[in-house]
Amino acid sequence: MIPSHGWKDTNEQRKREILDAIRAGTATAGPVHAELDLTDRCNVACYFCNQQDVRTTKQVPLERVVELLDDLAAGGLKSVRLSGGGDPLAYRGVDRVLDELAERDIVVDNLTTNAALLSEPIAERLVAPGRCREVLVSLNAADAEDYRRMMRVKRETFGRVLENVERLVALRGERAQPALSIQFLLDTENFRRLPEMYAIGRRLGADRIAVNTVLPIPNERIANEQMLGPPDFHRVSPYLEQVLRADREAGRLFLCFVFPEWNWELDRMRERLSAPLPVLYPTAPSFREENGSCFFAWYSATVRGNGDLYPCCMLLNPEYRPLGNLLDGGGGAEERDANGGFAAHWHGPAFSRLRQEMRDLLLAGGRILWSEKRFRAAGRACVEPGACGMKNMYFRGDEAFYRELGALLDERRRAEVGWRAGARGIARWWEIQRFRVHHGVRVRLRPLLRPLARWLGRRGAGLAHTADRLARF
Ligand SMILES: C[S@@+](CC[C@H](N)C(=O)[O-])C[C@H]1O[C@@H](n2cnc3c(N)ncnc32)[C@H](O)[C@@H]1O
Ligand code: SF4
Ligand code: SF4
Repeated sequence: MIPSHGWKDTNEQRKREILDAIRAGTATAGPVHAELDLTDRCNVACYFCNQQDVRTTKQVPLERVVELLDDLAAGGLKSVRLSGGGDPLAYRGVDRVLDELAERDIVVDNLTTNAALLSEPIAERLVAPGRCREVLVSLNAADAEDYRRMMRVKRETFGRVLENVERLVALRGERAQPALSIQFLLDTENFRRLPEMYAIGRRLGADRIAVNTVLPIPNERIANEQMLGPPDFHRVSPYLEQVLRADREAGRLFLCFVFPEWNWELDRMRERLSAPLPVLYPTAPSFREENGSCFFAWYSATVRGNGDLYPCCMLLNPEYRPLGNLLDGGGGAEERDANGGFAAHWHGPAFSRLRQEMRDLLLAGGRILWSEKRFRAAGRACVEPGACGMKNMYFRGDEAFYRELGALLDERRRAEVGWRAGARGIARWWEIQRFRVHHGVRVRLRPLLRPLARWLGRRGAGLAHTADRLARF
C-alpha cells in the first residue's frame, strides 16, 4: 500500500466536483484531503529539521481541532495526513483526535512521526480496521549513537522507538494496514551505514524503506560539509549497490533522490544489477505535462500548529505568506463564530486568489514566469517548472480524471486564451509568449553558463554568490 495523498478516498463525485469547479473558476465545498499539523512542538531536536525556522511553541487547542474537524467534515473531508510542524504524537490529546477522526469516518492517509511517543493506546487506534493507511516512521539514523547525533536526544530514545515500532507491527498482525514505512536520512557522516539501515528496516518488517539525503533548510543552518551533494554519488554508490542487491527479491527499497544526477546513475546501476525501479506512481496515457499543474486549491489544505493555513506542506517555509490563520483573534468560540471557521477561509479572499492563480497556471499549461507581484497566493514552487514533484505525483495515474481535465482545459483555453477572449485572453497569451522566450533563452544559455559558474566558484568566496546565481539560471 503506497500513500496517495488522499486520492484513494476521493470518489467519482468529488472528482467531478473538482473538475466542475476548475471549469467554472469557483470553489469546491471544502478540501477532500487535509494535512493537520496539530502542534509545532517536538520531543526531539533534529539538527536538520526543516521546520526549525517556522517553529513556534503553539498548538491548536483540542476544542478548536474538534470544531475544525466538524467544519472540514461538513465540507466533505475524507482523509488527513498528520505530520508537523513538530511531531504529531507530541500533541496532548492526539488519542482524542484519532477518535474524533474515526467518528467522522475520516481516514488517516498518513501519519509521519519520529515514533518516540508511539504508545500502545495510539498504536491500537492506528491498527483498527480502516483507520490508517500508512505510518511513516522517520528513524533517520543507523544506530543509537547516530540517532543521538542526528536527533540530538539521549541514545536510549533509539531503542524506545524500535520497541514502539515492533509493538505497532505486532498489533497490526496479518492485516495489510497501516502500511509501515521507515525513512532514513543520509549525510556525510552516516552514508556508509546504509546497509545497516536497510537491515533495521527489514528487521522491523517495513513495507517500504525510504532513503533520502539531508536537504538544505532555510537560513543555511546546515553546514555544506555535512550534506551530500550531486558530486558525492561515487562515494555513496558502493553502499547503494549493496542495498539494491539485498533488496532484489523483497522490493521494499524506495530510492528517489532530489539530485537528478543521482537518479540517472541509480538507473544505470539498477540496469546492471537487473533490479528495475518499481513504478510506484505510474502515469496514465491521458496525462500530459501541460495539464499537470496543481489543483490543490480545490482539493487540499494544510493547517499548521499555530493555526496558519497553507495549500500544502511544501510551502511551510519562511518565504511563503500563509493564506490566513484559523486562530485569528485568539481562537475562542466567539472568534470562530465571528470569522466563520475554516469554511470562511476556504471561500475567503486568499484561497480564492490561490484558485484564480492555479487556474491561470492550468490554462497556461504551467507556462507563466514567477514573480512575487504576479503570484500572491501560489508559492514559487507552484510556478517554476520542475520545482514541485508533489503537485501531480499521486494523481497522474488517474486515466479518467486527466482525460476529463485535458478536455475541459482544451475547451477553456479556446475560450479564455488569445485575442478572441478579449483583453484578459490577450494578457494570458502574452504571459505564455514571455515564458517561451525566457525559457528558450535559458535552455540555450545554460550549457555556456554552467562552466562559467564553476570557474567563478573556484575564484574564491567573493564570487560565490554570482556563481550560484549563474548555476541556477
Ligand atoms: C518535519 S517532519 C515532521 C513530522 C515528524 N516530526 C517526523 O520527523 O517524522 C516531516 C519529515 O520531513 C523530514 N525532514 C525534515 N527536515 C529534513 C531535511 N532537512 N532533509 C530531508 N528531510 C527532512 C523528516 O525526516 C520527516 O520525515
Ligand atoms: S522529529 Fe520531525 S519535527 Fe521533530 S525535530 Fe525532527 S524532523 Fe523536526
Ligand atoms: S504546486 Fe506543489 S508546492 Fe504548490 S500547492 Fe501544489 S503541491 Fe504545494
